[in-house]
Amino acid sequence: ARAPLVDPFARPISYLRVSVTDRCDFRCTYCMAEHMQFLPKKDLLTLEELDRLCSTFVGLGVRKLRITGGEPLVRRNIMEFFRAMSRHLGQGLDELTLTTNGSQLARFADELADCGVRRVNVSLDTLDAARFAEVTRWGRLPQVLEGIAAAKRAGLRVKINTVALKGFNEDELFPLLDWCAGEGHDLTFIEVMPMGDMGEEQRLDQYWALSDLRRRLEQRFTLTPLAERSGGPARYVRIEETGQKIGFITPLTHNFCESCNRVRLTCTGELFMCLGQEDRADLRAALRASPDDAPLRAAIHEAIARKPKGHDFDYSRRHVTGQMPRYMSHTGG
Ligand code: GTP
Ligand code: 5AD
Ligand code: SF4
Repeated sequence: ARAPLVDPFARPISYLRVSVTDRCDFRCTYCMAEHMQFLPKKDLLTLEELDRLCSTFVGLGVRKLRITGGEPLVRRNIMEFFRAMSRHLGQGLDELTLTTNGSQLARFADELADCGVRRVNVSLDTLDAARFAEVTRWGRLPQVLEGIAAAKRAGLRVKINTVALKGFNEDELFPLLDWCAGEGHDLTFIEVMPMGDMGEEQRLDQYWALSDLRRRLEQRFTLTPLAERSGGPARYVRIEETGQKIGFITPLTHNFCESCNRVRLTCTGELFMCLGQEDRADLRAALRASPDDAPLRAAIHEAIARKPKGHDFDYSRRHVTGQMPRYMSHTGG
């Protein structure tokens, strides 16, 4: 049962994404509803339980741990958890990192760096304050920009994640690129996925294929595809004129499931084997049933043995298939 995790399609599972809370201080329209019903606190795994679960995964060969949410930095005492996880760095774990909306980074950047975090992914869809307030429903752009600046000062590498939204940030492609170049941040674009309760029509209206975005870049710049991968789903290119590295996450136009290496743990201890499928395993039950880790390891192996081949998202023929009723904040994207 201590054997490394390999799924039925011979994909080694080495990347665990952990959502430590379903709560967030923003309500991005493509991620959450305006009025969310959050989970009662008693359903959450404690930080000790999260530690035990993640440590078990590291023992089973997980080399990359990404903390997500909701917004991970709004979970109470979350730095204790980062501190605890840092003990695995160099002891099986190669990377401890997080995906954040940046709102609390000014407070936590130094401590994150001190816990061995080397880079952070920050979600930022626009550099326009009014638009930012619109897409997050009430977020304040300056607060996030301050957080990003603090991360940089703390020596963390910053990757900006931008969801490509037609009619929303199309005209910001080059401004975003320039800003990231100036600040020295990497930039990755993401195709919007059909999660949550947004209607089909709105979804199709907002969908901006990255193949189109890329063509617009190519009209101005020379792009060289890079072979390197970060262990995540993004494919990278270098802009020869500026030396900038740009990532593309394209679940719709170029499915990357064949090289999937990850699973997702929710804050209630459910393991989702695929972002785009509903099947999950209740690891909390296994965790609470016994202080012995052997049954827990067995439950994890059993879950990985059910990992599906991939998602069924598809927007072609002006119709969305594969729409998930689940909110992205639940599994952390
Ligand atoms: P890096 O370590 O920088 O490569 O990060 P990453 O891309 O693995 O993590 P990040 O949190 O930045 O992920 C960005 C987004 O990519 C997520 O929020 C999802 O929207 C999407 N994504 C990540 N993994 C998957 C996946 O397995 N399937 C699909 N469809 N989308 C994914
Ligand atoms: N489609 C694509 N990306 C999404 N994210 C949240 N909801 C969606 C969606 N429906 C992204 C956020 C953040 C990451 C955690 O997930 O922008 O970068
Ligand atoms: Fe919060 Fe991130 Fe979802 Fe926006 S995308 S509501 S910042 S969890």
